[in-house]
Amino acid sequence: MKQAITIDDTILHFQHVRKTSEQICSLLQTEDYVVQPVAEVSPPKWHLGHTTWFFETFLLKVYAPHYKEFDPTYNYVFNSYYESIGARVIRTDRGNLSRPTVQDIYRYRRYVDEAMVTFMQENASNAKIIDLIILGVNHEQQHQELLYTDIKYILGHNPLLPAYQTDYPRNLSTSEKEEMIVVKEGIYEIGYRGDGFCWDNELGRHKVYLAQFEISSMLVTNGQYLEFMEDGGYQNFNHWHAEGWDWIKQQHLVSPLYWHYIDGQWMHYTFRGLEPVHTDTPVCHVSYFEAYAFAAWKGMRLPTEFEWEVASPNFDWGLRWEWTESAYLPYPHFSKAPGALGEYNGKFMVNQHVLRGASEVTPIGHSRNTYRNFFQTNQRWQFTGIRLAR
Ligand code: AVJ
Ligand code: FE
Repeated sequence: MKQAITIDDTILHFQHVRKTSEQICSLLQTEDYVVQPVAEVSPPKWHLGHTTWFFETFLLKVYAPHYKEFDPTYNYVFNSYYESIGARVIRTDRGNLSRPTVQDIYRYRRYVDEAMVTFMQENASNAKIIDLIILGVNHEQQHQELLYTDIKYILGHNPLLPAYQTDYPRNLSTSEKEEMIVVKEGIYEIGYRGDGFCWDNELGRHKVYLAQFEISSMLVTNGQYLEFMEDGGYQNFNHWHAEGWDWIKQQHLVSPLYWHYIDGQWMHYTFRGLEPVHTDTPVCHVSYFEAYAFAAWKGMRLPTEFEWEVASPNFDWGLRWEWTESAYLPYPHFSKAPGALGEYNGKFMVNQHVLRGASEVTPIGHSRNTYRNFFQTNQRWQFTGIRLAR
């Protein structure tokens, strides 16, 4: 049995999440909404349109008989990757969309939000529709995190390094004690259990065998990462996978993303603008390759996603997405939903690593210790960090 969540709760939750996306963008200038500095960074206006398109495409156009599409050309520009839904603008061209305008997209949001409220009232007791709405809300929350990461990239790669918000809250060190937590050998259960929302990739709860291991109570800090840099970490191939080594050499990388060595001091771009690197803060914006190399330099390793899940009740998490040693693969009995929504997670289960936890820009209430995030091994524009195991 599902808990007694009323339709009014769902409507309020929907409206809150929709408003939050707009609040994230409210600090931007119109020009900031449009650019796509690299392929993986989408323009903020595209996120605002795409999340709206998601409700229109998977709910209103399918289940609301009298709904009139806002603009039939939008399917082409706001379809992200759903082959089942048809032709779309190629990803690298998202930054060329000076039209629809930012204003058009805000009008689109108003139009779809109004239609959604009526639609939710009319379908208050349709469990299947409510589940899809919850999915759409979780989808928009994923894009809120992507909005933060993409806005940081856009402003942090503008040569003027403008602040997003000069009084953006700082989160420095946690007060936790640094220790290695021991987890005994055993058979453990992995995967989501409960009657709340989860993604399809968390299902297929199953048992795994784990040998005894130890995992750190704390994330690796900037100070610890600096020791690796100063010890020639980026110059010694021994710490790196061949692919990681080739990649750092080709890209001339010597530090995490957003770091700048200025007048003998390491600085980094933050939402407040350029600041000295604070040594006690958990390191951020490292790739899997760098996380792996750091661990190797330390004589340790990254945890597997299973070790992380089992140990997670014993440490604080949520400041950084934590790279794991696990490839992003289906759990036993994983199955793709029929239709377009089956494309949501399953088709990305190759050549990516799982990240566990959540980050400082993950929306409140959008994290679980069974949540499986995933990115390619060279990506570092998300709020990624390192936790060591052995
Ligand atoms: C789970 C964060 C890797 O960025 O493509 C958004 C989230 N999926 N819309 C991604 C997502 C569909 C996804 N990640
Ligand atoms: Fe999406």
